[in-house]
Amino acid sequence: MAIEIRVPGENERRAATATTMTAFGEELRESQLERQQRIMPRDRMLAAYDGDRPVGLAASFEFTLTISGGEAPAAGVTWVGVLPSHRRRGILRDLMRQQLDDVHARGEPLAILWASEAAIYGRFGYGLAALNASIEADRARFVLRDDPGPRGAVTLVTLEEALQRFPPIYERMRRPGMFARPHEWWEHQRLADPEEWREGASPKFYAVLELDGEDAGFAVYRVKGKWENGFPAGELQIIDAFAVSGEATRELWRFLFGVDLVSTVRAWIFDPASPLLLQVADVRSLHLRLGDGLWLRLVDVEEALRRRSYEGADSVVLEVSDALLPRNDGRYRVGDGVGRTDDKPDVRLSVADLASAYLGGFDFDRLHAAGRVEELTPGAVARASALFRTPLPPFCPEIF
Ligand SMILES: CC(C)(COP(=O)(O)OP(=O)(O)OC[C@H]1O[C@@H](n2cnc3c(N)ncnc32)[C@H](O)[C@@H]1OP(=O)(O)O)[C@@H](O)C(=O)NCCC(=O)NCCS
Repeated sequence: MAIEIRVPGENERRAATATTMTAFGEELRESQLERQQRIMPRDRMLAAYDGDRPVGLAASFEFTLTISGGEAPAAGVTWVGVLPSHRRRGILRDLMRQQLDDVHARGEPLAILWASEAAIYGRFGYGLAALNASIEADRARFVLRDDPGPRGAVTLVTLEEALQRFPPIYERMRRPGMFARPHEWWEHQRLADPEEWREGASPKFYAVLELDGEDAGFAVYRVKGKWENGFPAGELQIIDAFAVSGEATRELWRFLFGVDLVSTVRAWIFDPASPLLLQVADVRSLHLRLGDGLWLRLVDVEEALRRRSYEGADSVVLEVSDALLPRNDGRYRVGDGVGRTDDKPDVRLSVADLASAYLGGFDFDRLHAAGRVEELTPGAVARASALFRTPLPPFCPEIF
């Protein structure tokens, strides 16, 4: 029987959503569905139907993504799953295809996601755009280098106070790879604390750092208590940690590493460019691991290239190929005077590899070294790298 892909009706939302939970081997809870209803418009959901049974889903949030020099509308792809009974028959491919057309029709030039498995999305034109680190730090080995001694003050605040004080700090921190967090996102997603997210750990604690009387950082964390042979061996689990300066970083992490009854400080999402790496005496004790973070797709290549800023007054012509969305195939001038062109191309690459360069995560030299781009004009790769350069690598601080 042919599979039909369409927006589920309101009375079909629950069953469509449950397919993804089943695909992940989990159960859909009522509270989760309620939260989804608040932050996910139904018309951004696409379900695959086998007859009247939903067998797959792909949805997207409406995000505003920070990019070099500004921001751009981006579809935050989420809730992707296909039932195990229907896997590997091309249903995800059909969902992805239709979703990209839908995102394009909405005028969103970009789509972003976190992948459950890193090998899935390249074939759909997504490229690895931002790396993520994780830490599993040995608290006993935490020592700051050339420590000038503690400064400022940390206060534990209520959820209500966190909702007031955290967003302005986050706004100051936004850089490529981070998306705007509207109030509902803070309330129902980021600071929300439903029982089923705890997995045996404490409720969320909300900590704010003040330096010289000004809010300068915040952290959201849980503690998972554990005892071994009479000694405390708990884990501090960091959900968010933002600090507006190097000094604020030092003081926020001093606090986090100071929490008692903890032996491990863990953050699954940690900025690989964090100043903390150079502030601790024993960087190895952080047990840092690097992996893929944000994946990005240029849905409308011309619009996406127009949206970002470039360094310097140079320009190069990129020849971009897009097997899934051939309307994107073509030559684009980037830098001074962005847009489609018939001029001779300088560099040739796929839309997925352009995505890796787009936020500044990988420069053209690195892509070239990896055999991912073809240099057609001598020196053009280095010039493209210079144009796309960003002060910091991109970072996406949350999985959605
Ligand atoms: C991942 C998942 C959505 C794939 O759905 P599917 O309908 O089986 O995928 P398709 O049949 O459309 O596969 C399309 C292509 O992707 C490949 N692919 C699918 N899942 C893959 C995986 N997990 N790893 C690597 N490749 C994968 C297929 O082999 C196929 O390749 P081809 O184009 O070379 O033939 C499904 O297996 C699933 O729900 N998994 C569990 C939940 C999950 O991981 N969701 C993704 C959240 S980010």
